[in-house]
Amino acid sequence: MTYELPALPYDYDALEPHIDSRIMELHHDKHHQGYVNGANAAREALEGMRDSEEFGDVKSVKRALAFHLSGHVNHTIFWENMSPDGGGEPGGELADHIERDFGSYEAFTSEFAATAGGVEGSGWALLCHDAASDELIVAAAENHQNQTPQATTPILVCDVWEHAYYLQYENNRGEYVDNFMQVVDWDDVARRFDQCQGRSI
Ligand SMILES: [Fe+2]
Repeated sequence: MTYELPALPYDYDALEPHIDSRIMELHHDKHHQGYVNGANAAREALEGMRDSEEFGDVKSVKRALAFHLSGHVNHTIFWENMSPDGGGEPGGELADHIERDFGSYEAFTSEFAATAGGVEGSGWALLCHDAASDELIVAAAENHQNQTPQATTPILVCDVWEHAYYLQYENNRGEYVDNFMQVVDWDDVARRFDQCQGRSI
């Protein structure tokens, strides 16, 4: 298989009380696994098309690949963005860039929370490095992939599909997002930011 479900970097209950153990178990083992399976199925279907040189279904297969592969990528980053030792505020160069590009850390968190709250239906809020401007921007994704600007690399992602919070927070998405911010592993976000610096289009 081309894509594999990564192991969670901590136990299911490690993020309690902010994120419930049962949510983590279902989210990782069932939902993320589903996207891995879907991405592999789409790749297999593409291989079959190339072998047969019949591309009649190519539109739906490309659509499925974009959805499932983006789901796999977003969730992989999401797990690593969180830690039982997380929370607080970023430091170092990442903090400097957040201040430069948003005005302050507080301004960034307000925009990030508002973006998460504004996603219609299922989607994500994403803090991204934008290679076109070499700046940080906050983007929103509908489903996993729609509406995200080209040339952006996500460094902090918040899943706002209902499967990420409904068992614990019901319809209170804002409360869930506030709790998510309390488990953010800023060291992981900083590592991702370092890898992006200097990239251009
Ligand atoms: Fe999810």
